[in-house]
Amino acid sequence: MADRHVSSIKVMSRSSLYCFFMMISILFAFSWFFVLRSTGRAQLAGFPTPKLFSTADDSDSLAQIQHSVTSFGSQTCSANDNKSVLKVFMYDLPPQFHFGLLDWKPKGNSVWPDITSQLPEYPGGLNLQHSIEFWLTLDLLASELPKPSHGGSAIRVHNSSEADIIFVPFFSSLSYNRFAKAKVPTKEKNMNDLLQDKLVEYLTAQKEWKRSGGRDHLILAHHPNSMLEARKQLWPATFILADFGRYPLTIANVQKDVIAPYKHLVASYVDDSSEFDSRPTLLYFQGAIYRKDGGLARQELFYLLKDEKDVHFSFGSIQRGGIQKATEGMRSSKFCLNIAGDTPSSNRLFDAIAAHCVPVIISDEIELPYEDVLDYSEFCIFVPTKDAIRENFLINFIRSIGKQEWTRMWTKLKEVEHFFEYQFPSREGDAVQMIWQAVARKVPALKLKLHWSKRFDRSPPSTDNGLKPIPTPRNFW
Ligand SMILES: *[C@@H]1O[C@H](CO)[C@@H](O)[C@H](O)[C@H]1NC(C)=O
Ligand SMILES: *[C@@H]1O[C@H](CO)[C@@H](O)[C@H](O)[C@H]1NC(C)=O
Repeated sequence: MADRHVSSIKVMSRSSLYCFFMMISILFAFSWFFVLRSTGRAQLAGFPTPKLFSTADDSDSLAQIQHSVTSFGSQTCSANDNKSVLKVFMYDLPPQFHFGLLDWKPKGNSVWPDITSQLPEYPGGLNLQHSIEFWLTLDLLASELPKPSHGGSAIRVHNSSEADIIFVPFFSSLSYNRFAKAKVPTKEKNMNDLLQDKLVEYLTAQKEWKRSGGRDHLILAHHPNSMLEARKQLWPATFILADFGRYPLTIANVQKDVIAPYKHLVASYVDDSSEFDSRPTLLYFQGAIYRKDGGLARQELFYLLKDEKDVHFSFGSIQRGGIQKATEGMRSSKFCLNIAGDTPSSNRLFDAIAAHCVPVIISDEIELPYEDVLDYSEFCIFVPTKDAIRENFLINFIRSIGKQEWTRMWTKLKEVEHFFEYQFPSREGDAVQMIWQAVARKVPALKLKLHWSKRFDRSPPSTDNGLKPIPTPRNFW
């Protein structure tokens, strides 16, 4: 538990630590000044003797200065802390876009459920892996309770001019899962497509969208197949995605968008007292083996590893094999394989983290959540695909990792696992808070883009073509 705190402090409150450090440094400098002054060497040391202090006795002035430095510190630092809270404006979209998809029905005028009584339930099974839309929306609603029980990284504001970002609460992954495969008469759009059309229509009519062209909007599209229609028009916004596998660069990219973890399906390993020698399986993989695009490595690896007796390599998705079996399998393995499937990312990585099974990642294109603040090499092994499929390369490499190194990574896994935990109420340092913070780190670049786009707002139409000039800054994306 103590470890967790240390690591979350490291990530969370760099700005507070910075403030603290500044205050200490200033105090230290002043203390030196008084020591020198009281020994009469201030002038020798090059310090002027300010009039302000010369009438009072030294110890009094020292106390006075300490007081003013401290109050300066607490003012500037608390201002900084307030700034680090992301201000989020959330559209009051009709319930059919969000909790209505959970069969919740509004009572009275509010489009939002009363989260202090019973929560609408998100459907279980594989749906859950993309349930981020549910947790983020709940956290915003919770930020408005009289006694907010939320992680504190984001608060809902009702004046969109005061917001850092405009949140679009469309449960797009659930819409895909529920409606995309539903049979509809030929040529008719399914409900998932219709909802996206309606969303585009709604958004582009809002003053918030018009004033920014959508550049300060935040849209959820965690399921790789969600928002396939709407994204063609909503691309100026920041998306929250599982990976960039099915996105052209012009629509989504690492500068603009945020990668969020899947919600793990394997249960968290509470009170894990296992160790290197108590986990009998060396390497564990469970998944579909024959995949379309990009998944060829799985097949090759299967033939390379199938005869190793301490390797578990089996097929069938977690759905059929049972989450329970996967939980047991991962908990009794030292390493868990993550091989690119038909998308670069999968739920399996987050299952491995939850089971404290050191992930071995063979997916050259994978993007990882919050990698700007988290060094995955401390708790994951990365192997380039071209090496992994060489004869004996992978198995020799994994066997060469000894007890000490494994234990170091296993310890780190236990420190970072809460960064991948979705829950309500959300708590400091969990996935919900890490995502808000990742969004907050996008805000300055987004503001820059937005301000660029407004440069010529006041210009009269150009004499050449009667149109307003359009700014074309370099590296504009
Ligand atoms: C920071 O936020 C708190 C509570 O929201 C408020 O009371 C305080 O005045 C704010 N401080 C500054 C410097 O804005
Ligand atoms: C919203 O905020 C802006 C900027 O702070 C302010 O000028 C405006 O009056 C506010 N609108 C309302 C309705 O409070």
